[in-house]
Amino acid sequence: HGLLPFEHEPYFNFADPAVAAAQKAAYAKARADYAGKTFPLLMDGKKVQGDGTFTVTNPATGEKLWSFQNATAAQLNEAVAAANKAFEGWRFSDPLQRAAIFLRAAQLVRARRMELNAVMSLENGKNWAEADGEIAECVDHFEVFARETLKWAEGKPVYPMSDEHVTTVYEPLGVVAVISPWNYPSAIPLGMSLGALAAGNTVVWKPASETPLSSWLLIRLLFEAGLPRDTIQFLTGADDVLGDPLVDHKDVRMVAFTGSREIGCRIYERAAKVQPGQKFLKRVIAEMGGKDPTVVCADADLDAAAAGIVAATYGYSGQKCSACSRVVAEESIYDALLEKVKTLTEALKLGLPEDNAAVGPVIHAGSADRIRQYIENGKKTARLVTGGTEAQVQGSGEAQANYIPPTIFADVDAKDPLFQEEIFGPVLAFAKAKDWRHAIDLANDSDYGLTAAFYSRDPHKLAEARRLMHVGNLYLNRKCTGALSGTHAFGGYGMSGTNAKVGGPDYLFWFLQTKTVAQKY
Ligand code: NAD
Ligand code: ALA
Repeated sequence: HGLLPFEHEPYFNFADPAVAAAQKAAYAKARADYAGKTFPLLMDGKKVQGDGTFTVTNPATGEKLWSFQNATAAQLNEAVAAANKAFEGWRFSDPLQRAAIFLRAAQLVRARRMELNAVMSLENGKNWAEADGEIAECVDHFEVFARETLKWAEGKPVYPMSDEHVTTVYEPLGVVAVISPWNYPSAIPLGMSLGALAAGNTVVWKPASETPLSSWLLIRLLFEAGLPRDTIQFLTGADDVLGDPLVDHKDVRMVAFTGSREIGCRIYERAAKVQPGQKFLKRVIAEMGGKDPTVVCADADLDAAAAGIVAATYGYSGQKCSACSRVVAEESIYDALLEKVKTLTEALKLGLPEDNAAVGPVIHAGSADRIRQYIENGKKTARLVTGGTEAQVQGSGEAQANYIPPTIFADVDAKDPLFQEEIFGPVLAFAKAKDWRHAIDLANDSDYGLTAAFYSRDPHKLAEARRLMHVGNLYLNRKCTGALSGTHAFGGYGMSGTNAKVGGPDYLFWFLQTKTVAQKY
């Protein structure tokens, strides 16, 4: 189809003062363009008011940013009906047209990356590098999904018969509810929505209430690129109006969810119930939490391992499903590794994301309280190595309580909540293993199975790790965060979810049904 070979979008070099100044200026422009404004719902291509509004708060400073609508129960029904109607057109759209829209959208994102970085950073507290990584991933998603659209449109070959012409083709499902978290408010709802749209489905897009403008801007940009405006219905508002009722709706054919284990399991269970008038079994993808380990063998490059651990643990204050939250190290190098990780951790600067500090706030006071509870309990059950205190951050205003210094606990027992539960904050648990095989067993001792890193120089141990580690994304001799669309298909095992693998070669299959046609001549 004449597409250029795929390349991942390169990141900005913020070490260049001119690039840094441009990123800083983008915050001022984002505030000038959007602060204090109220944004509508988008239904059937029209801007619609809801029943009152809610305001988004900057987790770094407590600053009130912008407001969005509370959609009503009636508007939810209207949105699903509009998406259903739009499906009758979009399902037959030309895959080339869809791919062309995605490629145009990639260009539009490229031109506005700094603005999108700044808006996301204001909404969820990502520093420049973290925001840039996510917006670059949006560009990659557009480029990847353009190619995947064309790939799946071709169908698959079958073993032939002499007296029948037989084809296997893939058709879309219908209305897909896309429900997303605040920690990746751009790339995650975009990935799920592009999966739906690329396959010919229509979307009801429900962003997390902490981060709606990140979604809004991408949807506007998709429309600007030529996406028909009725193919995405954008609804913001309260979970009791847009949560269960959206999942339960008889005309929602599929739910694409990314978020917590608690809500993912709830959706999986509710979607199994066939509602009155529903004429299909709902499909659900639910990508959920993680408790991701880094295993370090005695023969590993300890400096590389320590650097990988610190980057994966404290990037975005540990608020990634992929974040490293456990280290399992062989006895003989345990103390040496711990010392290296402690030194690197203590060098991290806690500060404002807008100043590109290495570690920023967590998303809100409720989350900070929950994390502090784990830290207080950890002080009773394990050895506090660093952190576990409070720190003042200049300019944090009313959001001071959202800042939690990077914290390490050592000698953590495998049964301890520090080792088993997703904390979703800057807290790391170290556990000692008798040998590398024991380390793999400890790493696998989890309900979750999203990402893991494994450090060794021994080909045999690396081969065993490939075979035995129970995770969807295993990284050998590198950190366990930073999956790239199109290359590191992303999604976990166990209670990390349905393993739908966004950005992977089979992702679109989740959004399609298969039709076999056999013709006699
Ligand atoms: P969450 O589950 O609280 O919220 C996610 C979304 O679900 C939000 O939009 C929320 O409004 C909505 N929701 C709430 N109640 C609902 C209901 N009853 N029915 C339907 N939707 C409902 O998660 P969060 O706190 O926003 O995100 C953090 C979690 O997401 C962490 O557990 C993290 O590991 C996980 N996560 C997983 C991945 C992955 O790819 N596996 C990626 C990012 C985040
Ligand atoms: N996809 C993100 C990562 O790999 C969560 O870190």
